[in-house]
Amino acid sequence: TNRTFTMIKPDAVENGHIGAILEKITAAGFRIAAMKYTQLSRRDAEVFYAIHKERPFFGELVDFMTRGPIVAAILEKDNAVEDFRALIGATNPAEAAEGTIRKLYASSIGENAVHGSDSDENAAIEGAFHFSGREIF
Ligand code: GTP
Ligand code: MG
Repeated sequence: TNRTFTMIKPDAVENGHIGAILEKITAAGFRIAAMKYTQLSRRDAEVFYAIHKERPFFGELVDFMTRGPIVAAILEKDNAVEDFRALIGATNPAEAAEGTIRKLYASSIGENAVHGSDSDENAAIEGAFHFSGREIF
């Protein structure tokens, strides 16, 4: 489909990168269909990252994602999921391509500045987790 879901994570918010990251996103041709400034509860983060619950870093991931506010958004563009993953770069910023959001603004594999959905199915699930129909334009 033409939509993906993103979060500007607590590290990027703390470091003052919300504006720069949104500028990269809109300059790359994504339209903002929904957006909010919010904070995940522990339960939210555990549900959102349930697929990683057996991984050794799960506790660290939940601590990180809940420690401060995030920006959550639904983004629209042709080929949104794949193109947004390319724009943010590899999970580990040390391996991310030059010019990608994680290369520019992430500090480690754990604190990596942004989330991007990994499939159309997950984009729809994640968007619906954060936004009601009336909040999507
Ligand atoms: P998301 O867009 O956030 O889903 O990242 P991703 O799809 O590039 O990576 P993945 O879904 O595999 O992992 C989800 C998140 O878990 C990552 O973005 C990191 O925040 C965190 N994470 C992944 N691997 C590690 C790790 O080895 N150590 C730590 N501390 N965190 C990790
Ligand atoms: Mg992922």
